[in-house]
Amino acid sequence: MSTSTDLASLLTTSSTLRWLGAYEITDDPARVDLDVVHGFLARESYWRRGVSRERVATAVRMSLPLSVHLATATPTMVGFARVVTDTVTHAWLDDVFVLREHRRRGIAGALVEAALAHPAVVDASLQLLLTADAHDLYARYGFRPFPDPEALMTRS
Ligand SMILES: CC(C)(COP(=O)(O)OP(=O)(O)OC[C@H]1O[C@@H](n2cnc3c(N)ncnc32)[C@H](O)[C@@H]1OP(=O)(O)O)[C@@H](O)C(=O)NCCC(=O)NCCS
Repeated sequence: MSTSTDLASLLTTSSTLRWLGAYEITDDPARVDLDVVHGFLARESYWRRGVSRERVATAVRMSLPLSVHLATATPTMVGFARVVTDTVTHAWLDDVFVLREHRRRGIAGALVEAALAHPAVVDASLQLLLTADAHDLYARYGFRPFPDPEALMTRS
């Protein structure tokens, strides 16, 4: 495999996954507005604050990216999530956000549902995520505290 191969180009269907009113959810990597993703993660997120644009670009390129767009004359990206997946054993949901003005309309829920139903994720036997405070949101989609925290290790 060439080092320049985009994992997303192997995993994505590059199509609209679903609509929620005027909001379109797609897995098309070409639709990702990196300015929005980097702007949110670097300035507003608690988990990747200060991250460089280059690191965000690489992480997005090497993941399955899902983005949410408001279908106006000039569509604007208002939400994002990505999944690191090998499609069969592990799928890690990460960088989920919805821009403030568009929250509490069910967008994150639809985004998580679309991610979990995606063909590159649906059969992964171990589905994981980290969250500081959105446990209730993810619990609606079947996520539970890790059953055996002693078995989980990390290194940074
Ligand atoms: C968390 C977030 C993605 C939710 O987006 P959203 O589109 O407003 O979510 P939805 O409308 O689909 O669902 C909101 C529901 O999730 C619940 N929820 C649980 N934890 C939450 C949290 N930390 N923040 C917001 N909503 C949360 C709310 O109670 C709400 O339920 P209700 O509508 O019955 O009151 C959004 O608030 C956000 O981007 N926050 C900043 C980034 C973040 O914390 N991301 C999650 C990292 S794990």
